Amino acid sequence: MSELTIVGVDEAGFCFGVRRALQLANEATEKHPEVACLGPLIHNRQVVEDLEERGMRVVDAIEDVPPGSAALVRAHGAGPAVYEAASERGVDLIDATCPFVRRVQQAAARFAEDDYQVLVLGEREHPEAQAIVAHAGGRAVIVEDAGELGGIKTTERVAVVCQTTQRLDKLQELVDALLPQIAELRVANTICDATSKRQKASLSVARRVDLMIVIGGYHSANTNRLAQICRATGTRTEHIETADELRGEWLEGVATAGITAGASTPPEAVAAVRRRLLELAGERG
Ligand code: F3S
Repeated sequence: MSELTIVGVDEAGFCFGVRRALQLANEATEKHPEVACLGPLIHNRQVVEDLEERGMRVVDAIEDVPPGSAALVRAHGAGPAVYEAASERGVDLIDATCPFVRRVQQAAARFAEDDYQVLVLGEREHPEAQAIVAHAGGRAVIVEDAGELGGIKTTERVAVVCQTTQRLDKLQELVDALLPQIAELRVANTICDATSKRQKASLSVARRVDLMIVIGGYHSANTNRLAQICRATGTRTEHIETADELRGEWLEGVATAGITAGASTPPEAVAAVRRRLLELAGERG
């Protein structure tokens, strides 16, 4: 029987902000018969379905929450308009904004107040980046990479903040491109180190295994990035959401497999993948 060695990444799975948001969501479902969540709590279908069974309903906007009931702001945060609308409608708002995301919002607001043109390095469609812009009173623009700078008219005073899941090299590139053209440049490195630690640890495991399994939602930005980083090492990398997607043929010629998981992947999902990998390895005889 051929053996399979599994190498787990220590810094993997739920980050501090997601664990905190889930705890607040669980407490909210115990306290209120019905709670609305402003968008899916985390990018993990299984976790969201489980919360739905316990009375949490995902809504698109605060306007969809009946007055007098409760709603949860997820770890990505929300713009000031959401807090205002909740108080006008008498909605009990439970704020699960990750404290590190709050720090980005505050930095963006401060820079905007001090009259800087704020650039948010992030994904245009990502709710976290959009909420950061909203906290800067709309006086901010999202930049996805340094290549977009040509299309933006910059002023003399520019400040850069970033979505917490951005890569440091992308921030570096943006700063390098801005420096020669801006008289006064302020940079807040607001990248969350949970992300970079997870990325570094995953990279080091990916380099020394034959197969890398990345577990997490297909729509999770940080999971997709982990898969990208692992794949770039040249090691075969498979991104899955659940253990039942694992294929026996992926283990052909594989002696060591690495496992990592995005920030919104529950520990049970990681344990299930580990078990299934060992089962499949046993089956290959
Ligand atoms: Fe917060 Fe960092 Fe997680 S910003 S939600 S602890 S990835």
